Amino acid sequence: MKRKIKKLPIIILVVILLTIIISIVTVKHIQKINSTSYKLGQLGYNENDITIIEGLEEKQIEEILNKEYNAVIPNLMKEKYFLFKNLDEYITYFQKNNSTSLERIIAIVNVKSNYDRYDEKIVIATDINKGNLLLVNKYNYLQADYIPEDIVNIPLTYAFDDNQTTKEVLSAFKNMWTAAKKEDLTLIVNSSYRDYESQEQVWNSYEKQRGEDYADSIAARAGYSEHQTGLALDITTYGANKDTFEETDEFKWLDKNAHKYGFILRYPKGKEDITGYAYESWHFRYVGKEIATKIKKENITFDEYYAYYEQ
Ligand code: DAL
Ligand code: ZN
Repeated sequence: MKRKIKKLPIIILVVILLTIIISIVTVKHIQKINSTSYKLGQLGYNENDITIIEGLEEKQIEEILNKEYNAVIPNLMKEKYFLFKNLDEYITYFQKNNSTSLERIIAIVNVKSNYDRYDEKIVIATDINKGNLLLVNKYNYLQADYIPEDIVNIPLTYAFDDNQTTKEVLSAFKNMWTAAKKEDLTLIVNSSYRDYESQEQVWNSYEKQRGEDYADSIAARAGYSEHQTGLALDITTYGANKDTFEETDEFKWLDKNAHKYGFILRYPKGKEDITGYAYESWHFRYVGKEIATKIKKENITFDEYYAYYEQ
């Protein structure tokens, strides 16, 4: 009898302890199976993938959890210019073009080059309040009556006859011209501000000579040209033409130094599928020193810059 009385509190204690332990284990288990990392693991993602995905916002993680496992998702996310809002389009593009690098797929989708150029369902009137960062390309247009403010004539020291640009661009170009001159190089503006009608004539004349595809590779359709912004300069030097400018010391100098004066080479070699234009060694675009330097350093086009940093 004496021994039985002593056992009872021990049994009660053990039962209480067991209840506590079982409760803790159960709660922990419920917490675990409800955790993001567990759910991602169940979908098929490995530890590294999970760390990457968990860097997203809650709502975005929820979206990943609602999709089937896809090994390309964490790999896309590792890319510098990845934008979550474009994820589905990256995946669709990758499925059709899986030999294209993910870096390239991201660039193409970010600038909308996965859509047909000039597609009327895709094109939009560009935001004209962007100042020197006005984006005009085959998906962003200017109205026919858009005329930049403060357009000025470019003096003949710097340009062939009848060239105009904005006041700020002229001042930047003069600085660049002077710096080049110190190295015995002569920069000449060949073509600059063009209004809607002049651009129409440029495109039409190419189209007449060599057809629509050629015209589209080298000239913008009216409303879609940077020349209408007043911020683009076609640059040449004495004795050069569009085919030979690339070989000149003037071009080599510009390629190395233009960003210091706020200009970028707008349609570079190797980026044709992103810009939508053939390589143009002569077409420089003013964006200001800071952004030009960033674009140069990151080796991206203005379209890529705008999609990632300005939208
Ligand atoms: N040549 C450039 C693309 C233009 O026409 O605007
Ligand atoms: Zn041009």
